Amino acid sequence: MQARGPLMVEHRLIERMIRIIERSISRIESTGKVDPVFVDTAVDFVRTYADRTHHGKEENILFRELSKRALSETDRKIMKELIDEHVFGRHTTKALVEATARYRRGDESALEEITGKLHTLVDFYPRHIEKEDKVFFPAARAYFTDEEEERMLKEFWEFDRKVIHVKYKSVVEGLGRDEKA
Ligand SMILES: [Fe+2]
Ligand SMILES: [Fe+2]
Repeated sequence: MQARGPLMVEHRLIERMIRIIERSISRIESTGKVDPVFVDTAVDFVRTYADRTHHGKEENILFRELSKRALSETDRKIMKELIDEHVFGRHTTKALVEATARYRRGDESALEEITGKLHTLVDFYPRHIEKEDKVFFPAARAYFTDEEEERMLKEFWEFDRKVIHVKYKSVVEGLGRDEKA
């Protein structure tokens, strides 16, 4: 299997979540209300799955290996764009978290910000994924031998294996801090 295999499988799950988020925007717009628990779940998906697990493997393994290769100018430029888009996704999610916290405290004006950031995620992710699936991943294949692809896959599995432990350690540490506060 090529290294892009599991990444493309993950893209399909991210797309499914994006469609659910898209439907939630219509609900928010028709009722004038947001369910903060839904936003928390969407944020957790984006942060833990899309960012830490998925972008994590892209940046820390695939892009790291590609950066050691003599990439064409176009491929290097696209890789930089993809990394910038990951950063943009993180900033958008952070702003969404902050707006949801304001909404919970009773600030109704945060609703517009929440809808705006959800719209941004719905708009940005499919385009990012398409650029990887259709342009960058096929181009990246040319820089690796089959053995190198296999080695990256092994590293992917190891990376995934660790994520769940890091995630729940941080959950427990967060709750421990809240108790002390
Ligand atoms: Fe990406
Ligand atoms: Fe991706």
